[in-house]
This record gives sequence, structure tokens and C-alpha cells, in this order.
Amino acid sequence: MSLPGLIAEAVWFILPAYVANASPVVLGGGRPIDGGRRLADGRPIFGPGKTVRGFLGGLLAGTAAGGIQAAIAGSAVFLLAGFLLSLGALCGDLLGSFIKRRIGLERGRPAPPLDQLGFLLFAILFVLPVRAPSAQVFLILLAVTPAVHLAANFLAHLLGLKDRPY
Ligand code: CTP
Ligand code: MG
Repeated sequence: MSLPGLIAEAVWFILPAYVANASPVVLGGGRPIDGGRRLADGRPIFGPGKTVRGFLGGLLAGTAAGGIQAAIAGSAVFLLAGFLLSLGALCGDLLGSFIKRRIGLERGRPAPPLDQLGFLLFAILFVLPVRAPSAQVFLILLAVTPAVHLAANFLAHLLGLKDRPY
């Protein structure tokens, strides 16, 4: 397959994870998942950037994207895949924040490539029982996702949704 074709296939495969990862910027806020609790190191478990509303909103939005894919493709597998991709993306994002807090990075500080790839790897891990990407699609996702992530964050900053452009 041609490179543009492969990129299109990769984006189609991962789309619900992208939606789940991006939508909390708009849908999030309110009570943090960790309830403001801290670990023995004195730092937050996840921090105030990981909220219940963001998690549930991201899960819903990403699953809805999978639902639209299911309708287009005429296969319910995409709905289940959308749910698993979203759940994986949000759990990967949480784990990323957990690691950032443990190494002393405050909420919102950049931690490449953790910010860009953590959610991606967990999304793929979670969806594996249902849909596995080809090796080519996987490599393309590794290459393309950091750029998509940076561009999306920059756009969110321009739109006034995020303080920082990353
Ligand atoms: N967000 C949320 N709930 C989530 C994930 C994200 O409410 N589960 C919202 C927060 O407003 C967050 C924004 O989306 O600030 C951007 O997400 P992200 O970049 O992942 O969080 P950071 O603020 O950078 O925090 P961290 O350093 O923990 O990654
Ligand atoms: Mg961030």
C-alpha cells in the first residue's frame, strides 16, 4: 500500500484514542481523580490535570467515535474497539501523569515522549484482543502521533483552551 494509504489506515485505526485523549481539554474540569490526595513523597497521585469529568467525557467521546466508525463500516466491532482504545488511552495518560508526579514534574510540564506516546501504547495494548494493527500501521502511528499531539495542543492553545502550547 502507498504511504498516504497506510497513514489513512493508521488514523482510521487509532481515531477513537485520539478523540479520547483530546476531548478532556474541552470536557474536563472539576474534581480531580485523585481527590487531591498525595503519596508519601508529598506529591499528588495524578495531579489536578486529571479529572473525573475529563476521564468519563473522554471515554464517552472516544467510544462515540468508535460508534460512528461502526456505522460507517457496518460492523459492531468498531464500537467495542472504540471503547477499548479510549479506555486504554485514558489509562495510559493517567499512568503518564503518575510517573511525571513521581519524578517531580508539576502538572502541565512537558515530558516527551511520555505525553505523546504513553496514551498511544496503552490504547493499542487495550484494543489488541479485538483488533491488532499491522506492523506497518504500528510504526506509522509511532512516527505520526507525536506530531498530531503537538499540533492538537498548539491548536487548543490558539483557541484559548489550554494555557500552554504543548
Ligand atoms: N484533562 C482532564 N481529565 C483528564 C485528562 C485531561 O480534565 N483525565 C484536561 C485537564 O484540563 C488538562 C488538559 O485536559 O489540563 C490537558 O491534558 P494533559 O495535557 O494530559 O494534562 P496536563 O495538564 O498537562 O497534566 P499532566 O502534567 O498531569 O499531564
Ligand atoms: Mg500536558
